[in-house]
Amino acid sequence: MGTNVTWLGHNAWSIETSGKTLLLDPFLNDSPTAPVKADAVTADYILLSHGHGDHLGDTVDIAKRTGAVVLTNFEVSQWLGKKGVPAEKLIGLNPGGGSKQPFGHAKFTIAHHSSSMPDGSYGGVPGGFLLTLEDARIYFACDTALFLDMKLIGASPLDLAVLPIGDMFTMGPEDSIDAIKLLNPKRVAPCHYNTWPPIAQDAAAWAATVQSHTAATPVVLEPGGVINL
Ligand code: NI
Ligand code: MN
Repeated sequence: MGTNVTWLGHNAWSIETSGKTLLLDPFLNDSPTAPVKADAVTADYILLSHGHGDHLGDTVDIAKRTGAVVLTNFEVSQWLGKKGVPAEKLIGLNPGGGSKQPFGHAKFTIAHHSSSMPDGSYGGVPGGFLLTLEDARIYFACDTALFLDMKLIGASPLDLAVLPIGDMFTMGPEDSIDAIKLLNPKRVAPCHYNTWPPIAQDAAAWAATVQSHTAATPVVLEPGGVINL
């Protein structure tokens, strides 16, 4: 059947698996690099890592239009409820907790970062997502520093790890190499870079270092590019 993972720029991804579409951090309309606008995407599920605007993005509008179930942290789920996303469509997680769904299992993993909502209200604890799908195991680190516990996530085989490499707001390219060594994924894709000048990075140089210093295969996409698993 296969799983398709499409980069929508920054930390926005669309995952098609088991007949379902999952959107991760759908920052589209205000993203300088997103290849689609929010009204053109479909979603059965939205995975939202934290409340910062470059991740929350168009979540409220997409959730209302599509009726997608939103998996995020508890505080962000409460905030989305106040914005009119129906309570029965909200799943509020906390780090280490997951949810079994028809597409597989989504675990909210730890992330070292901050989280607040665009209106300044408390956004709870940020996270990443570890997806155990029918035919693939995928880790989206989302906004985080490098942390040693990535070794636990890599203790079972990963088909794909998606890591930020932009530096400044998240880990940069050098720390991502250590992250890859801890995670030991088959393939690794970079994100959260080249969206704006402060997080500009040379992805080709990063890929060369991945190839020479780790066992993983780097996959550098352009926005709109797809990884087939
Ligand atoms: Ni952030
Ligand atoms: Mn971010």
